[in-house]
Amino acid sequence: MIGVMCSRDCGTSSAAAHVRQTCPMDHRDHVGLLREGVLGGGKTWADLGSGAGAFTLALADLLGPTGSIYSVDRDSRALRVQGRALRESFPNVTVAPLVADFTLPLELPPLDGIVMANSLHFERDQLAVLRLVRGYLRPAGRLVLVEYDTDHGNPWVPFPLSYRSWATLAAEVGFRDTQRLASVPSRFLGSIYSALSFC
Ligand SMILES: C[S@@+](CC[C@H](N)C(=O)[O-])C[C@H]1O[C@@H](n2cnc3c(N)ncnc32)[C@H](O)[C@@H]1O
Repeated sequence: MIGVMCSRDCGTSSAAAHVRQTCPMDHRDHVGLLREGVLGGGKTWADLGSGAGAFTLALADLLGPTGSIYSVDRDSRALRVQGRALRESFPNVTVAPLVADFTLPLELPPLDGIVMANSLHFERDQLAVLRLVRGYLRPAGRLVLVEYDTDHGNPWVPFPLSYRSWATLAAEVGFRDTQRLASVPSRFLGSIYSALSFC
């Protein structure tokens, strides 16, 4: 088993056994949520709000050794944990950790794609964040969003957005051809979906 942390339900670092006991999602699920959005979409990506790296590892798996990933989180400890897991499982993929707040302008090269997994739901002003995010993408670049499929938050997931709400918001920001890719059941808030949009 690839040594990843549960993407959302279990918080931060967990031993693999703990992950198996308590988290319904594993690396295969993470890869499954991203696959269709990432394959064929270029090799230079960012993961915004990457945390302990569940989806960074999935991205590394999908991009392979010619991939390059900017892994952004404001939590430096999570990025260190993630760095260890990446070195262990995907030592040939180039991953640049960046301790930063994605609500502010980031120093990034033009990107082929961006993953935001379970991180947009922390922001009240999602439109402003997404305008910044869109600006990092090359023409026809991709945004893969992973979120809980609900519009009703709680103290831990304050501003989730259902796929329906996402499709509306993405169009408002200027993304096009938004499509739902995959979903997995979640013990919390019903299910988690992935969606692909183009710049
Ligand atoms: C629930 S975790 C999800 C981590 C990972 N994407 C996953 O799905 O497993 C949310 C992560 O987003 C980060 N985050 C939230 N808001 C952020 C911001 N404005 N800038 C940078 N990181 C942020 C948190 O530090 C945390 O690591």
